[in-house]
Amino acid sequence: MQVDIQLVPSPPNSDALLNRTVVVVDVLRATSVMVNAISQGALEILPLAGVEEALQMAKVFPRGSVLLGGERESKSIPGFDLGNSPKEYVAESVKGKKLILTTTNGTKAFHLVSSGKEVLVGSFLNIGAVARRCLESGRELLIFLSGDEGGFSLEDTVCGGMLIGLITKKRKKSISLTDASRCAQILYQRFKNNLLEAFHLSYHGKQLINRGFEDDLDYCAQIDITSLVPVFREGVIRAPSSPPSPARGEGKGEGRYAMQIEENE
Ligand code: MLT
Repeated sequence: MQVDIQLVPSPPNSDALLNRTVVVVDVLRATSVMVNAISQGALEILPLAGVEEALQMAKVFPRGSVLLGGERESKSIPGFDLGNSPKEYVAESVKGKKLILTTTNGTKAFHLVSSGKEVLVGSFLNIGAVARRCLESGRELLIFLSGDEGGFSLEDTVCGGMLIGLITKKRKKSISLTDASRCAQILYQRFKNNLLEAFHLSYHGKQLINRGFEDDLDYCAQIDITSLVPVFREGVIRAPSSPPSPARGEGKGEGRYAMQIEENE
C-alpha cells in the first residue's frame, strides 16, 4: 500500500485517483467544521466553491431545511446562518439539517479530488478513525491538503504526518512512503507533543488569532473526539453508512490520552 501526501492543493491527475482512497484535510477550519457538523447530526453538507453559488443553491431547498455556513477572510458571510467556527456546528443548530458550506480553501479541495474511489474528511478530531478506515480499505492512499490559497500549510501537513504515522505503525512492512509522506511524518514528530505550537506558528493560525478566533485553534487541536469519518460522494458529504468501531476513550475525554498510548506502544 503506497501512502502519498500532496503538500499543496494543485489539481491532481484525476485518473491516478480512480483506485485510491483520498483524505482531504483542512484542519483550520473547514474539515474540522465538517467532522463536527456530521457528528452533531447534520444530514449532509454540500461543499461549494463560491458565495453566489451557495446562495443560489439554498433557494432550491424548502425554507428552514438548509443552513448556509462558511467564511471569507475567516469571517461570517453576510446573509449566512453560520460562520466557520466548529463550535457553531452543534446539535441544537445543525441536527437534521442540510448544510451548504463555502470556505476559502477547504470546500474547493473536495472538487479537485472527486474522482477518488473513496474521499474521506480528515482532521485531528477524527484522525484515529480515519487511519482505521484507510487501513480497512487497503487501497493506495493520497492525503490531500487544502493548504492556504494554493500554498503550503504547516498545520495541515502536521495532521497528514500524524495520519501517516498511525497508518505505518499498524502496517509497517506493507506500506511504502513517498518522500512527501516522509517529510510530513518528520514534521509531525517535531510538534507531536504540542500541536497548538504548530497552529500558533502557522500563517493561518496567526490570522485566526488576529481575527478573534483563537478558541478555534484549541478546538481543532483536539484528537479523536469522534470516530465518525464523513464521506464525500457525488458532491455531498455524509456520515458513512456503517461507521467504524468507536475510538478508545471516545466521549470520556480520553481520546487524546488513548492516542498517545497507541503512539508510544
Ligand atoms: C478554509 O477553508 O480556507 C478555512 O476553513 C478558512 C478559515 O476557516 O478561516
